[in-house]
Amino acid sequence: MCGIIGYVGKRNTSKLLIDGLKKLEYRGYDSAGICILNNNNLTTIKRKGKIKDLEVVEGISKIKGNIGIAHTRWATHGEPSQINAHPHTDSKGEIALVHNGIIENYHSLKELLIQDGYIFTSETDSEILVHLIKKFYMDDLETAVKNALSYVEGTFGIAVLHKNENRIVVARRGSPLIIGIGENEMIFASDAIPIMDYTKRVIYLNDDEMAILSANDFKICKIDGEIVDSEIHEIKWSIDQIEKKGYKHFMLKEIFEQPEAMENVLRGRIKEGKIKLTIDFDVSKLERIVITACGTSWHSALLGKFFIEKHVNIPVEIDYASEYRYRQTIVKDNDLFVVISQSGETADTLAALRKAKADGAKSIGLINVVGSTIAREVDSGIYLHAGPEIGVASTKAFLCQVTALILLGLYIKQEKGEKLDQEILKELFNVPEKIKKCLNLSKEISEIAKNYTHSRNFLYLGRNNNFPVALEGALKLKEISYIHAEGYPAAEMKHGPIALIDEEMPVVFIATNSAILDKVISNMEETRARKGVLITITDNGNEAINRLSDKIISVPRTHEDLSPLINVIPLQLLAYHIADLKDLNVDRPRNLAKSVTVE
Ligand code: AGP
Repeated sequence: MCGIIGYVGKRNTSKLLIDGLKKLEYRGYDSAGICILNNNNLTTIKRKGKIKDLEVVEGISKIKGNIGIAHTRWATHGEPSQINAHPHTDSKGEIALVHNGIIENYHSLKELLIQDGYIFTSETDSEILVHLIKKFYMDDLETAVKNALSYVEGTFGIAVLHKNENRIVVARRGSPLIIGIGENEMIFASDAIPIMDYTKRVIYLNDDEMAILSANDFKICKIDGEIVDSEIHEIKWSIDQIEKKGYKHFMLKEIFEQPEAMENVLRGRIKEGKIKLTIDFDVSKLERIVITACGTSWHSALLGKFFIEKHVNIPVEIDYASEYRYRQTIVKDNDLFVVISQSGETADTLAALRKAKADGAKSIGLINVVGSTIAREVDSGIYLHAGPEIGVASTKAFLCQVTALILLGLYIKQEKGEKLDQEILKELFNVPEKIKKCLNLSKEISEIAKNYTHSRNFLYLGRNNNFPVALEGALKLKEISYIHAEGYPAAEMKHGPIALIDEEMPVVFIATNSAILDKVISNMEETRARKGVLITITDNGNEAINRLSDKIISVPRTHEDLSPLINVIPLQLLAYHIADLKDLNVDRPRNLAKSVTVE
């Protein structure tokens, strides 16, 4: 999704901004631009396409100036084009602005501004902001921004320059902004990654706050004026965690990091047969758990439901955050509201959390990005410790989410005074080794993948707790290979999707040991009878599985209730290799964004 970076200090700003934009590329974008202030003059350059298209614009690296803002745009209002790209400027080129988010009342504001004689050049909602600020500008950018924002409905992370002021004004409502405090320099961005090269001391701007940044000084205040005393945090990640380290893609690196990621999420959280979590309130009397999330995180929520209902005997409802936020929902006294998010910035998930909290819910967040908005707004949390996830297709965060949900479920059981299943606790520590064995199948899976690069459709089928794994396998494939794929509970197939099966349809079955493996095998028989092509993930050398499958991927056996943690790995690898063989941009698939900060 859109990215912002800005700088004020002593360095070569155009190079710094371009480098920063490259670090934001993983978020997904379709155009980019920079604006640099020098000698009371703003130079703005923007292009449709990739940062490399911007980087080669003649003269861009020679622009002088030590203060500037830059942006990667992911189109919402208006097509991807040079004109719609940011920064936007007023017609005299005195003010420049970059914006993440959506201005909801932009139609009415635009009409008023046009009546006042302002001339619009783009189709974006963002452009109204620059004209609105211009309208209020009377020699003080801070005041003009404050006044303009008081008319705005919607979400924004903005950064604004005025040609006559050696400072940058930034503000946020619903769209993250992080300010890095350096030695005689300030660098800010929509996530921490481009900041880390320069400083690890950061301030996370809260909603309705703004910052006024100059090289040696900063001021944080509310948009309504009140001064805020913000805490300075230390970023704990290191730069080498966000390098590819010899892997062809970040996604592959992140798939291979999963054994370690799982060890990290478990570390210190199981001791002497007990679960140790820092949850700031009593969970012993819970009567219901509601989990909301989006995409892959929603799939882990569904897995959490299977595990918690079976082991903790508490009803669990799950909801897409985008639905929860707009439907009539009920919060009761003994409910727990859980949000799951890798980025901690997903707009729908954040809105669902705020709604539940406003209705009185106690909340827990399972979040990867430390200091993200959701992480800061939940009542209590479990950090995933997956490390930075750069590939747009989530892999290691999913594994850590599922592990964290298992820990949360067992913790609640323990707090209710019930005995924990020690076999599961023990086996959790064996899973990382078993994941390593799955990773050793990468070559074999890439050979299998060669048969399916021209497939147009895929079905993924699993039952019980491997149904969410089927959903996740299908999502991975469609995200990065652009092959249409659907996940279903295997037995549901006969109620419709079976009509799709013929000799052109690869069907991935998850057929690992379980109380209902025989039922899964019956579903495999039904598929085979319709000439479907079966790719089977199994830990079982069963004669029927061997006979029915065209391709078999053998995985190590684990406890039935933990099997999703193993079974998802070959599905990630299958999606990865198919997309890579198709020579697609695995880490930055088309139309997708790593962090979906608009609704
Ligand atoms: C997963 O591969 C996705 N790209 C996407 O579905 C993602 O899981 C979803 O947007 C939620 O993101 P979050 O976990 O950062 O909230």
